[in-house]
Amino acid sequence: MSNIPAPVDATKTPEWEALKAHHDKLVADHFNLKDAFAADDKRVEKLSFDMSDLHFDLSKDLVTDETVKLLCDLARAVKVEERRDAMFSGEHINTTEDRAVLHTALRRPKDQIGKFVVDGQDTVADVHEVLDRMYAFAERVRSGEWKGVSGKRIEHVMSIGIGGSDLGPVMAYEALKPYADAGIDCRFVSNIDPNDMAEKTRGLDPETTLVIIVSKTFTTLETITNAREARTWMLDALKAQGAIDGSDAQNADAIKKHFVAVSTNLELVEQFGIDPENAFGFWSWVGGRYSVDSAVGLSLIIAFGPERFAEFLAGFHDVDNYFKNTPLERNVVALMGLMNVWYVNFCGMGSHAVLPYNQYLHRFPAYLQQLTMESNGKSTRWDGTPATSATGEVFWGEAGTNGQHAFYQLIHQGTKPIPADFIAFVNTPNPTKDGDQDVHELFLGNFLAQTKALAFGKTADEVRAEGTAEWMVPARCFEGNRPTTSIFGEALTPHALGELIALYEHITFVEGTVWGLDSYDQWGVELGKQLAKQITPAFHDDEALARQDASTQALIAYYRAHR
Ligand code: F6P
Repeated sequence: MSNIPAPVDATKTPEWEALKAHHDKLVADHFNLKDAFAADDKRVEKLSFDMSDLHFDLSKDLVTDETVKLLCDLARAVKVEERRDAMFSGEHINTTEDRAVLHTALRRPKDQIGKFVVDGQDTVADVHEVLDRMYAFAERVRSGEWKGVSGKRIEHVMSIGIGGSDLGPVMAYEALKPYADAGIDCRFVSNIDPNDMAEKTRGLDPETTLVIIVSKTFTTLETITNAREARTWMLDALKAQGAIDGSDAQNADAIKKHFVAVSTNLELVEQFGIDPENAFGFWSWVGGRYSVDSAVGLSLIIAFGPERFAEFLAGFHDVDNYFKNTPLERNVVALMGLMNVWYVNFCGMGSHAVLPYNQYLHRFPAYLQQLTMESNGKSTRWDGTPATSATGEVFWGEAGTNGQHAFYQLIHQGTKPIPADFIAFVNTPNPTKDGDQDVHELFLGNFLAQTKALAFGKTADEVRAEGTAEWMVPARCFEGNRPTTSIFGEALTPHALGELIALYEHITFVEGTVWGLDSYDQWGVELGKQLAKQITPAFHDDEALARQDASTQALIAYYRAHR
């Protein structure tokens, strides 16, 4: 049994009751953003925040001064600050796995070596030992000093991983593409569907390709299967091109020069045939979905260089310091987490859109889905007792303006309001003009227009004034009062990206703490893995088929009949 104190049941606190009563009153008073703005000319000022490179406007969220106060009271009642400090100091807050949760150690600067010894490990020293090795390795690849088996420099990286060993690197690679300065492109293979590997190896020159196998456990079925396939592809293709003769010695040499690995399980990496010199480790206290800033980000260091990666880490670290040191009432990270609790538990909203107005962030919503939903999609609390309130939200989204022409209809006029985070940047690396029109300004105009429309809507009188036939007026009205948070930054730099990721890591932490969840385990993914192993033989084996349920049997019968 863990020595971490049992979670405070938020729903049994007077602070929870106060929030419920406050919500009822807002409903009874017909709270709406139009009136809230009219009544308080300091609203925007009070609900605006600056954190390092990012500016936040929470004024279009469905909150009042009182809501903010009550949410902070709730946070104190459930001991968010104490648990935050316990996380930063390496207590085993991941109770079901009895582990520290120390992704924040991945971005501590070198001058903190010796100051964070956890379970006998100098975490910062170990982090920087690996970082230095990765930086040196990446420089060799980037400069062309590292050569493939036929003496050619590396021009492509194929990274193989899944979940946290894929989503973070893909998202950050896409986000920071303008910083790719070494002529090296990255491809990412994750799905065990052979189509993924087939498409990612299409047209790829094995002589100039470096494969990175990324797996925390080095046992994940998809990754290890794909890694074996990649090894076969590499050796066959090199042989076909006459780069190697297919002898054991040349095969081993090719693996050494074209395969590296990132894992916490360095023994299995070595068994796979990868030179331990070319293996980069991390630690059990880094959760997969919190690992993009660990060795898991090796592909990013190769594509963008050590300097950019150091800036990325500094962005995370700035947010860590901010989150740790800013009083709750002015702590936008904590407030965003608490507002999510407000929306889920008091306003009954179960879904949350993340809408980046930046094409480079097109994978950010997918990344956040794992971060938030694998962390807080749970119904058992960290002491093994059942959750006492709704938990978790469905996070989803798409880069603007594409979403506007797809699902925004529902956000504007659907029957269930959906809180949405809009993320945009003042500057673009690709400034363009359409005639006299700055296209980026046109784009940003859309970001501002959407948040304005969602907040303030359009009344029946305004619709009528346009000459709309009376029966059509309701269909053309926008009730407004749809909550949005605006996150605005100067530019999508590595530093700003690090900040954004750390922001959502800590938002997830705050929500998880209020709900009493261990946000760092993921037992809910295990059953499917076990069953897949048990079911797969049934495609061909009648005894295995007989052990399946009627629906599975029928689906396999269909497979057999159509194969
Ligand atoms: O199955 C879920 C999961 O364990 C994720 O939490 C993790 O990010 C992913 O699988 C990949 O795991 P690994 O890095 O060990 O291959």
